[in-house]
Amino acid sequence: MIRQYDQCFVLETAHSSYILRILPTKQLEHLYYGKKLTITSCQDIVPLIEQHAFAPGNTNIYDEEHPEYSLEDMRLEVGTIGKGDIRVPFVEIIHDDGSSTNDFLYHDAKINTTRTPINTLPYATNNQEELEITLVDEAYDVTLKLYYNVYDKYDMITRRAVLINNNKNAIRLNRLMSTQLDFSTHDFVLTTFNGSWTDEMNRHDYVVESGLHINASFTGSSSSRANPFVMLSNKHTSEDAGEVYGLNLIYSGNHYEAVEVSSYGKMRFVSGINPQNFSFLLAQGEQFESPEAVMCYSDRGFNDMSQHMHKFINDCIVRGSWQHQERPILLNSWEANYFKINEQKLIKQAKAAKKVGIELFVMDDGWFGKRDNDQSSLGDWQYDPKKLPHGLKHLVDKINAIGLDFGIWVEPEMVNVDSNLYRSHPNWTIAIPGHGQSEGRHQRILDLCNPEVVDYLTKVMSKLFESADIKYVKWDMNRTFSDIYSPYLPSDKQQEVFHRYIIGLYKLLDNLTKAFPDILFEGCASGGNRFDLGMLCFMPQIWASDNTDALCRARIQKNYSYGYPLSVISNHVSSTLNHQTLRTTPLNTRYNVACFGILGYEINLADLSNEALEEITKQIAAYKVHRKTFQFGTFYRVNQVLHNWCVVSDDQKDAMGMLLQELVLPHHQYHQFIARGLKEDSHYHFFNEAKQYNVKLFGDLINTASPVHIKQDSLAHQVVAKFVKMPGEVEDIHTTGSVLMQGVGLKQAFSANGYNENVRYFQDFASRLYFIEEESEMK
Ligand code: GLA
Repeated sequence: MIRQYDQCFVLETAHSSYILRILPTKQLEHLYYGKKLTITSCQDIVPLIEQHAFAPGNTNIYDEEHPEYSLEDMRLEVGTIGKGDIRVPFVEIIHDDGSSTNDFLYHDAKINTTRTPINTLPYATNNQEELEITLVDEAYDVTLKLYYNVYDKYDMITRRAVLINNNKNAIRLNRLMSTQLDFSTHDFVLTTFNGSWTDEMNRHDYVVESGLHINASFTGSSSSRANPFVMLSNKHTSEDAGEVYGLNLIYSGNHYEAVEVSSYGKMRFVSGINPQNFSFLLAQGEQFESPEAVMCYSDRGFNDMSQHMHKFINDCIVRGSWQHQERPILLNSWEANYFKINEQKLIKQAKAAKKVGIELFVMDDGWFGKRDNDQSSLGDWQYDPKKLPHGLKHLVDKINAIGLDFGIWVEPEMVNVDSNLYRSHPNWTIAIPGHGQSEGRHQRILDLCNPEVVDYLTKVMSKLFESADIKYVKWDMNRTFSDIYSPYLPSDKQQEVFHRYIIGLYKLLDNLTKAFPDILFEGCASGGNRFDLGMLCFMPQIWASDNTDALCRARIQKNYSYGYPLSVISNHVSSTLNHQTLRTTPLNTRYNVACFGILGYEINLADLSNEALEEITKQIAAYKVHRKTFQFGTFYRVNQVLHNWCVVSDDQKDAMGMLLQELVLPHHQYHQFIARGLKEDSHYHFFNEAKQYNVKLFGDLINTASPVHIKQDSLAHQVVAKFVKMPGEVEDIHTTGSVLMQGVGLKQAFSANGYNENVRYFQDFASRLYFIEEESEMK
């Protein structure tokens, strides 16, 4: 709901309010963003207005009529340069006369019942109302439009800006942010998620004290270095209580989130396109659109904020025919084969996949050109006849005949110098002509600033997708930008390259997703190097990390869940030793982590033991039963030393929980599983699936029970292991939701003082999956 009270605008969602007003000096003043307030008149707003009698000393007074106003100490909707505000600005322009001073003053406002589209970038759908405010800097004849969209039930407000140059002289736009929040205090913790390849989403909490703190990417993508999702919370905010703002950007390029504490203890947050190496030349009549920022406020802890984000992303960011559809369980060929694929191998693996219940077979890298390693062929999207002697369509038909859908890997934005595409179009890459080039993974980035390249890729990809029954596409992007230069653009537009590349990418994705609405696209960029809301507007799921180690994945997936729903997080069970860490984790732990989200396998099923295949068959069968909840349920993180997750169906009738241990603490026998999101008063059945453990897992402890001595790993040990299985613990509890949410005392963990069916075999990296089902009657 958006209302105007005289000089004030009130934006309301179910549980939050955002309030701004037109200052007597005509700038926009930010008054409030937080817990919903009851506002029925102008009068009600008055206490939110800061009272200024005299401006602080050694600051600049805005104008003579207002000696009380120094913009350095005002909470503003738009920070500018040159009229007294010295904090991190919202907008930065170099005018024709060389000046960078701007003063954007209120001109008019309207409330739109449908949102105003963004021409160049994707944006959230399903909004309810939009506030459009026009500000004008008359001295330079430049207009700044601010758009606020309100999403009531998601507790979400979005903001963006459009800058229009009406001046006959061109201007240079060096920065245009998407949102700005000025708070009157700095009592906040800023949480960012940083990392690198195979190490995405490490959570960092900074207690905001003073100065400027920046979270930004400069890879050309949203990056694994710093995800654009950040949080501002209070020191005592927990998963279940306390204030938090979740903030993100619908953008896949270089982003920037800054928090600055002023000399007067106020705090400014801005986010938008990274201004580093960004500068747009705008001739008369030209405009620039900033990406849409999304903002969610909750006073009920991180879980509540995340759940609102999740619903918003599922309903208003992800779109198209897969939006609310359950996603297939796939087998991906990469870790089992790397580049060494051929028709025979793939068919053998697909047959094994069908047997365990997999639904989609994905042929990853290595199938095209002469792609025997990563040094050639990107750009040449024709199958390699050495590997696929009967062609792509033949392979796809064969896989379909086995009973599986088929998916394919592509990396359309890239080219190897050793490729026919590069040889015929050397000027189609991001490179400075005539200069040496820095390479990443032996490949170059195609110049998507050039519309001819976008058209070419649309045609080539369309031809590929039409050539066989392709149901899924893994769209990869494996390098970061260097030698930032578009041979297509003139020299005075080279600082536009990063952003124009993203506009070109969105155009390409728009063309292809419109032409192939039923293909399920999965985003990937060396894992999570482009895990953002911009990509999710085109691709309903993203490969979260090239790290498939269950322990690392538990952290990575948990941290994605702060800002992204399980329905977009793609996870695979891979082999052991893990290829990224050489760690051994139990097969059930690999599954227990991967099933929270979109489940897949990336393992050579044709090489696995019958025992492992049986276990995988059971995993997949169970996942199919609970898939909707694992992908679209309400997800809770529980504050515990152990990883403790819970996902609950919409009707709260069933839930699954996971408990994962990193390292065993000797003689710590007692563990709890804590449920969340259940109906307090309903009765539930809480249970696990009892396992049988191989006696070899207990090493030479076998001799504590064996009447004759058995040498560890001897033939005798193998023989005994074949016949003797150790019973796993059974949990079988009937109680109310309120008790389960208080915590379930589990069977004691193994701690060197005996083992039987009442002891939980719980070694390093062990985990359990618990099932919780509502009962119709009390037992
Ligand atoms: C990237 C992806 C991997 C795999 C390889 C193929 O690293 O993240 O999943 O597809 O490329 O080259």
